[in-house]
Parts: sequence; C-alpha cells; structure tokens
Amino acid sequence: MNKTLIVGNWKMHLNVHEASILVHRLSERIRIHRDIEVVLAPGFVSLQPIYMQLDHRKFHLAAQNAYFQDEGPFTGEVSFNMLRGLVDYVIVGHSDRRYKFGESLEMVRDKVAGAVRNNITPILCVGETKQERTDGETMQVLHDQVTTALSELTQDEVEDIVIAYEPIWALSNGTDFAHHEIPTPDIISKAVNVIRNNIRHLYGKEVAENVRILYGGSTSSSTAHGLLSANGVNGLLVGGASLNYIEFSGITEAAYRLAHQAEDNGSNE
Ligand code: PGA
Repeated sequence: MNKTLIVGNWKMHLNVHEASILVHRLSERIRIHRDIEVVLAPGFVSLQPIYMQLDHRKFHLAAQNAYFQDEGPFTGEVSFNMLRGLVDYVIVGHSDRRYKFGESLEMVRDKVAGAVRNNITPILCVGETKQERTDGETMQVLHDQVTTALSELTQDEVEDIVIAYEPIWALSNGTDFAHHEIPTPDIISKAVNVIRNNIRHLYGKEVAENVRILYGGSTSSSTAHGLLSANGVNGLLVGGASLNYIEFSGITEAAYRLAHQAEDNGSNE
C-alpha cells in the first residue's frame, strides 16, 4: 500500500531563520507514522540548513523548482544535479511556474526528465483554469499536461513519480486558504480518474494504479479529512496552510486518523 503523502509547499515565504522556527514547531507536533510521509518544500536558501536540522525519520525535503539542464551557463538557475542528496522530491510544473514564468508543456517535460535522471522524484502539478473548466476542456488540458510531461519516461519511471491535481481556480492566495472555493470530492475523483486513465492507456493498468496522485488547492485542517477521502487521492499538496504549524500538523493528524480507520476496518474484516 502506498503511504499517504502530505507535502507543504512554502512558496516564496520565510527567510532561513523563520523557516528554522517553523521546522522546530512542526517537529514538536508531528508524529512518525509508518503509513504517512510528510514532505516540506522550503525556498532554495533554506534547503541546506533545514536538511541539517530535520529529523529525517519524520520529514523528507522537496525543492519547489529546478532547471532541466544539469550544468552550464545558466546564471541564477539551480539544477536537479545540484539538489542531489539534499532533496527527495522536486515540485515540477506548478501553475505559478506555468503561468507566471511561462513554463511550456515541453519545459515541464524536460524538468520531469531532469529530476528522474538525477534520482529525484518529481511532484508533477497539473490542473485546469476556471475558464477551461467552464468551456468543458478539463479532460483535454489534463491529458495534454500529463502525457507531454511523462513522454520521456519509461514505464517503471512513471510508476514512481507523484502527480498533484491542482485546479487553478481552487488555489488560495496564501492567506484565505480556509475560505476559498474548493472542488467537491466528486470533482476531484473525476479528475484523478482522468489522469489515471491517461496513464493506463500509455503505461498499463499496474502503473496507473500505483502512481501516487495528490490533491492541491486551499487545503486546511478542517477540509483535509474530506479531501483525503476522495476516491483515488493518495495525499495533499498544501500551500498557504503549510506555513501555519497548527494547520499543517492538523492536516497530518487528519491523515493519521484516516490511516487508523483503514487499519481498523482491515482488522474487522
Ligand atoms: P494553496 O496552495 O493550498 O494555498 O491553495 C496549493 C499550491 O499552490 O500548491
């Protein structure tokens, strides 16, 4: 069984000192659970100090982005090669990158390949805009984003990656995460199903069943339980709420409760 994955995307927030305080607070509250994996994605400058500070049994690290070339004259960029040994995951193709920094489908594809080449698991973000949903284009958008991004990978490599379904219309601005519009579990399951079907078509049933798919968008401690219960969802990619230690540890608690429920149900059978 796949572990439930809870990822905190800190985006462009917190300096090194503030990041260290947040890690300290989270460490006090978050418990180790064999069925839950908690991943923190701080800004680049905090990765190394947090790596030194972290209890690696409790947390894994992710970067929020990287450049697809391994080295060269790319002033200001950080490569996957540079992140080797420091992070287990990298967020790739976040809508901030696609829409605010003009990352194309092909660039996202090259980044996914760059991560895998360097033994880092990509967390590939996909999702439609409000307009695309209203125009009935959600399935097509997800299809194009998923199939292009994975097109350089082998079947085995696809099986190990993580995909985050993040409808752009549901993303918070960082502060109003608890009050923002979020999709119903039914909408989420349908989108996750579309993604798994695309993968099944290209890489087979087993890969489609095993690939981990997260939901992301305005998650909070009060909605986590319902979102994690949506069919086919293996975890959450959390933005705004991951900066608040009470919220983020509440989200991991919701994941523990669900894991225990599953265990109890299993033992009653
Ligand atoms: P949010 O962000 O939880 O603040 O909506 C999620 C994300 O952008 O990954």
